[in-house]
Amino acid sequence: MQLLVNIDHVATLRNARGEGFPSPIEAAKICEDAGAAGIVFHLRGDRRHIRDEDVYELKKSVQGILDFEMAATDEMIRICKEVKPELCTLVPEGREELTTEGGLNMKVVYDDFEQRVFPAFKDTGILMSLFLDPNPEDIELAAKLGTDAVELHTGNFANATSKSEQLHELERLQKGAEQIHKLGMTVNAGHGLNLNNLPVLINSVPHLQDISIGHALVSQSLFWGLERTVKAYLEIMKGR
Ligand code: PXP
Repeated sequence: MQLLVNIDHVATLRNARGEGFPSPIEAAKICEDAGAAGIVFHLRGDRRHIRDEDVYELKKSVQGILDFEMAATDEMIRICKEVKPELCTLVPEGREELTTEGGLNMKVVYDDFEQRVFPAFKDTGILMSLFLDPNPEDIELAAKLGTDAVELHTGNFANATSKSEQLHELERLQKGAEQIHKLGMTVNAGHGLNLNNLPVLINSVPHLQDISIGHALVSQSLFWGLERTVKAYLEIMKGR
């Protein structure tokens, strides 16, 4: 299991004043120096946080895994192939949403992904990951498409407002992880994870590899600094 830090919200803070500070590139370096295995960013169509120039700078400076999270538009596919990150995570993207609101609906996107998106990445060496809710039908179709990994959407688990709802969501994630693993794909997870719910998730859900954490980690770092915050997450994941 390894930690990938999503640095989008360092860019959010930078963009608030239109100046160059704080730098997501510098933040990525601190996270890696503190022991994170890699960095995630989401280049959105509206460029609300990460900008094109950040992507090329991150490609130059990140030493570990670079995970390019994006909607499967022709524009993003072109940029991603130029940048050649280790991993490309495809997500649904809505203009009005504050953050990614759920996984891909594989029934809706399957034909397009099979005919346009996956062939575009063939022979690029970029590993593909699909952001999915733990629905058996979606996972089945992801395997049929030939993706390398599935990132399980942990948002419903993270936002559960009762113990029983949290247990229900955990059970769905457990089953989803088993299914993804059985079908020969890597199990990643992310969304809404924090220092409180991460231990619960990793104690229950098997086969987890890349854990992608952004908002809670960047927010906590305002009080603790990035190095201490990253190390606190790594302590939870130690030996797993
Ligand atoms: N994984 C995916 C696919 C995401 O869209 C996001 C949010 O950008 C994350 C992980 C990280 O979520 P959070 O910022 O809530 O930790």
